[in-house]
Amino acid sequence: MALYSDKVMDHFRNPRNVGVIEDADGVGEAGNPVCGDIMKIYLKIDDDVISDVKFETFGCGSAIASSSMATELIKGKPVEEAAALTNKAVTEALDGLPIHKLHCSVLAEEAIKLALKDYYDKNGIPYDPEEFKGVVDCASCAENH
Ligand code: FES
Repeated sequence: MALYSDKVMDHFRNPRNVGVIEDADGVGEAGNPVCGDIMKIYLKIDDDVISDVKFETFGCGSAIASSSMATELIKGKPVEEAAALTNKAVTEALDGLPIHKLHCSVLAEEAIKLALKDYYDKNGIPYDPEEFKGVVDCASCAENH
């Protein structure tokens, strides 16, 4: 069996939603301190719906495929649904990732969560901090160095 599914290869070779949203309503950046890969997600939100989403990923092929798939999964969806996206759902949508590459899909979940947190913070929308427990914000890491 090939190491990577056709879907992983497709999203790696032709990533969807690559880029930046200049006037994003929420931006989130997640990183993995072990491999050093970084993923940044930009959200445009209208009437509680993700009307547009873009990503920039400085990382491995699995991280790029995960970002691409994750953006496709939340585009056009209500904010609540995007907040509930798990790395497991991203991995399943990609028809699986090798076990040592599962952390790449975690970056997608975390970057989306951080972008939503940024949106909530900017708009004074209350949220349960538990929802973001354990998610490391790369942007604030950089400020602390
Ligand atoms: Fe770390 Fe893929 S190897 S995100």
